[in-house]
Amino acid sequence: MEAHHLDDLSLAGFFDASPVPTFVINTQHVVTHFNKACENLLGVKAQDMIGERKLGQVFYDHDRPVLADLIVDESAADELERLYTNQAHRSQLIADAYETEAFFPHLGDDGCWLLFTATPLRNSDGSIAGAVETLQDITGRKRAEEALLKYQSTLEELIEKRTTELAQTNRALLEDVARREAAEAALLSRNTELNELNAKLSMAQEHLAQSEKLASIGQLAAGVAHEINNPIGYIFSNFGTLEKYLADLFQMLDAYEKAESSHGNAQTRLALETLRNDIELGFLKEDIPTLMRESKEGLVRVRTIVQNLKDFSHVDASLDWQFTNLLQGIDATLNMVNNEVRYKADIVKDYDVLPEVQCISSEINQVVMNLLINAADAIGPARGQITVRTGVETGKVWFEVADTGTGIPKEVLPRIFDPFFTSKPVGKGTGLGLSLSYGIVQKHHGSIDVQTEMGKGSTFRVTLPINQSATPAAYKESQA
Ligand SMILES: Nc1ncnc2c1ncn2[C@@H]1O[C@H](COP(=O)(O)OP(=O)(O)O)[C@@H](O)[C@H]1O
Ligand SMILES: [Mg+2]
Repeated sequence: MEAHHLDDLSLAGFFDASPVPTFVINTQHVVTHFNKACENLLGVKAQDMIGERKLGQVFYDHDRPVLADLIVDESAADELERLYTNQAHRSQLIADAYETEAFFPHLGDDGCWLLFTATPLRNSDGSIAGAVETLQDITGRKRAEEALLKYQSTLEELIEKRTTELAQTNRALLEDVARREAAEAALLSRNTELNELNAKLSMAQEHLAQSEKLASIGQLAAGVAHEINNPIGYIFSNFGTLEKYLADLFQMLDAYEKAESSHGNAQTRLALETLRNDIELGFLKEDIPTLMRESKEGLVRVRTIVQNLKDFSHVDASLDWQFTNLLQGIDATLNMVNNEVRYKADIVKDYDVLPEVQCISSEINQVVMNLLINAADAIGPARGQITVRTGVETGKVWFEVADTGTGIPKEVLPRIFDPFFTSKPVGKGTGLGLSLSYGIVQKHHGSIDVQTEMGKGSTFRVTLPINQSATPAAYKESQA
């Protein structure tokens, strides 16, 4: 029967039929069994192995113990540790068995990964009789694992690369955003600048329109002044004659009055007396001189105003370089701005006699006016004083306008001659007065200096050469 046949089966037959490569060693480490599968896997003949101790040569090309040898020696733990550094471990299927993996480059076409399992063979008393070791070709799994590992590391590299790229893109984006923000900020500030510039321009335009208006008003006034000048002239001279005539008339009248009492005709005397009372001759005699005096004062004033207008606008001189009496121009200008100044400050004149100076007098008057108005503006609510001084140096004259105003702060001082610089409220200051004045003084080859003390006041001094021919080229150029 079948079972009987199986009982007859020899161990060698069973062993050779097993598809698992297997060999056995005894306690002397001599190979006792070596199956067909083992022959095929390792490429050696069982007959060359059985009875020998050269398993080390087969696996490693030199003599050394294999896993089964260590199991047989029972020295397992330490030696296993040494030879298979942590890669050997207990089998999960059989107690006492150990497993380990190793790669063998000389086996197969491309080398071969093997999983060894070595199990002790025991006698019935438990003592070790040998060891059986099975081999499994795990190359496929290993290769798959390696491929997987490689794939994973490639993936990781790829991810790393992508992450770096993303970080770079992100950084670029951030930089781009920062650049855009900076550009936007620059644009904004540019816009603010432009707005400010625009405001300044419209203020300058306003100022120009204003000075245009002033110029035409000045011209008109100068024309009117010129027209009035003649009639005022002969009214004034006639007035003198009239005064003299009146004095004569009063003298005559006195004589008549005296003669009246001795007049024979009582009727005529009565008529004269009635008439005298009717016209209040006594009052007339008192009032007429008063009227004459007041009228004369008025006339003198009109004549002065007309003269000032003429001096200030200099219709006669216009834009000519002429030798001019500066003091006349300064006085005329003082009279012009008197309205603006007299409520705020007393004006003190401290003049030195000046020689005639070669200049464009209307422009110099403009400078004087700017300085006077600035001085008046600097004086606070309390009444102050504005002193106008003049003086002579060799080849030069100077005039200065000193105020008892606020003074100029240190941080403001370097900017006062800048066009459009003003510390005054919008609508009041244009910031052009000093820059225009500076230009005019430069054109005259002069200089303008300022001394100031906070809380005490400021003094602006203009120095001009008496003679422009001292600097012929520039003078000719500015005349052209
Ligand atoms: N006498 C002064 N006292 C104090 N500050 C002055 C005086 N003169 C000029 N400044 C300063 O200089 C600035 C510029 O003057 P200016 O060019 O005439 O322009 P604006 O009078 O229209 O302000 C003034 O706003 C003021 O701050
Ligand atoms: Mg000014």
